[in-house]
Parts: sequence; structure tokens; C-alpha cells
Amino acid sequence: MSKAALTPADVEFLVALRRDLHQHPELSWQEGRTQERLERALRESGVSDVRRVARTGLVARIPGTTPGAPCVALRGDIDALPITEATGLACASVNDGVMHACGHDMHAAWTVGAARLLARTPAGGDVLVVLQPAEEVGEGARAILESGALDGARMIFGAHVDPRFDVGQVVAQPGPLAASADTFRVRLTGRGGHGARPHRAIDPIVGAAALISSLQTLVSRSLDPGLPGVVTVGAVHAGNAPNVIPEVAELLGTIRATTVASRTVLHEGVRRVAQGVAAAHGLTVEIVVTPGTPPLVNSPDAAAIAARAAAKVVGEPNVVPLGSTNMAGEDFACYLERMSGCFIRIGVRGPGGDVTDVHTPRFAPDEGALAVGSRLLAECALLFAHS
Ligand code: NI
Repeated sequence: MSKAALTPADVEFLVALRRDLHQHPELSWQEGRTQERLERALRESGVSDVRRVARTGLVARIPGTTPGAPCVALRGDIDALPITEATGLACASVNDGVMHACGHDMHAAWTVGAARLLARTPAGGDVLVVLQPAEEVGEGARAILESGALDGARMIFGAHVDPRFDVGQVVAQPGPLAASADTFRVRLTGRGGHGARPHRAIDPIVGAAALISSLQTLVSRSLDPGLPGVVTVGAVHAGNAPNVIPEVAELLGTIRATTVASRTVLHEGVRRVAQGVAAAHGLTVEIVVTPGTPPLVNSPDAAAIAARAAAKVVGEPNVVPLGSTNMAGEDFACYLERMSGCFIRIGVRGPGGDVTDVHTPRFAPDEGALAVGSRLLAECALLFAHS
């Protein structure tokens, strides 16, 4: 048996914690009750050095056995989504229109579980346990970093529920794991006019239509075909009458990429194509690309530790490949701009059970994954000390 072992009482404690969090979900930056509840759970787990940081977050320090040994961080996110729960579970949300539909209740609970194990069996160096708010809006990780609470940490580990995999299966691999998530806004300005006299106007709608089509060539023609990428126009605003050519058309969209280089290709491509198409149609153009979370690329050194930890906890055959890259964003990527680390996927599909995706009203992860997540994160911290 691995060093980080949970007792039946630990499991009961974590299940109760997870259900309580699940029943009382809170949106990003509103995690006041969650923060209080998690602080209490950490103290009940033998962790006394707990600090409130980044408004509704927590960072706890679990002292290591060897003074001066390098420090490692473990991160769990804690916020919920604006979704009305439809699972019908006894622990279903009591907060109208808010639901833990991305499993962050599981993440928070298994991170406390790891802390509980490490308080009992400390690592070589100090372990910083991060309970991070506001992941869903892509802001919490940066706020934690800006608080300075992670200064000195050398490596970071975190994990996400994944309903594509069975409980007991784990993905712990180097390289791209989730995409960058950036937004853009293109405002095309022409000259309004009568719909029957287009020659006296400069029509931004025809320009916008050409631009929407041309943007589709970025992924097919500018990006390495071996790298996934997405450019989606999600909103188009122009005009309000059938016989009036408006002055302005506006497009809003999202850009996803899995490497820093391909992200740059798509950002520059959106600007270039928008400028070119606007010029071709005699329109003036304003382009704003707003960076969101960067691509999440696991570091080889941290991924090697995570894979060893996973093999210890679930057995080598249950450490499985990710398959296709997840094109959603994950703000764990912000930590990886500052230190090396690995983001792990943990299976939550029960035997013959729920395969509903995250971010849906019926998402119901199998609680068996709480033990896997707790032991796995603790094991990462223990192995880091000996790497
Ligand atoms: Ni999530």
C-alpha cells in the first residue's frame, strides 16, 4: 500500500464535505461560505497554518520534515456555475440557478483530502495547499499568484474530474492538456445609406460576411494541421431595418490554441485578415484581441512525477492517455507560466454510470474519485520531495 492511505473515517469526512459544498454552490468571487467551510475542514484535518488570500481563496502551509527543502503546491478550484441543477440528488443545490456542474466541489474536497494525508505524513519540503476561487471566469489563478502566497513554490499539481474516464483511471501526461481561451472583437465602420442606393454607402454587413468566411481559413491554411485550433465567431451585430445600410458591424469571437506558437499564429491571423478584408471593402476597422487563459502545457518533469504517483495510486494499467486535446480553457495554465507543474485528469464515471458532460444540469460525478484525487495529489507532493 502507498504511504498516503485513507481510513474509512477520512473517506466519510471527504464525502460529507463534498456533499455540503455541492449543496451550497457559489459563483466566482462569491465563495464566502465555501471559503469558511474549507478553512474549517483544513483545521479539522490537522492543518493549522491557513491564510485567506485572493478575496475568497485559501492557502495553507503544511510544514515539511527537512528545513530548506524545495516547496511544492497543490491546487483545487472551488467555484460553481450559473446552471440550474437537475440531478435530483439528495445533496442537490439549494442555491437557485447555481450548481457545481464542473466538479469543483470534488476538486476542493480531494485537495483537503491530500492536505489531511500530508498533515499526517509530511513531505520533505513544505506543501502549499491552494483552494482557488474564480476559475470559471479565468481570474482566480492570477489573483492567487498576485497575492504572493505561492512565492517560493517550485512545482504545482492540480486535477480535474473527467466523465470520459472510469473512476480509478487517471491521465497524467506531459504536453498540451487544455487550450488557451482568448476573445476578439472586430468593429467594421462604413457609411450608412438607403438600402436601394448601396453605391452611395459603404456596407459593413457585406464586409462582415466576407470576414466571417475568411476567418475560417486561419485554422485550415495558417495553422500547422497537426495542431488543434479554433476560431469561432459567436456574435454578429449590425443593422435593424431591411432597407437601411448601417454604419457599423461588430463581430465577437473566441480563439483556442494548444501551444504558445499556434496561439500567436491565430492572434496575428485574426488581425491580419480583419485588416485586409476591411481594406478590400473600404471599411475602417478596430480590432481588440483580449488574452484570457494561456494554453495549458504540462511540464515533462512534473508530468513524470504525476505519472509515477498515479501508477502508485491506481496501478500502471489505469494511467491512460488523454486522447483528443480538451479545447476548453483552464486557468491552472497561469501557474505554469511561473513554475513547472502538471494538471491531471481523474475519471469520475461510475460502473455503468453517468457519462453526462461537465457544465450540464445532470452532471453527477462518482464520489469514488475523492479517494483517488486525495491520494494522488498527496503522492505527487511526497514524490516531488524525492525527485
Ligand atoms: Ni472546471
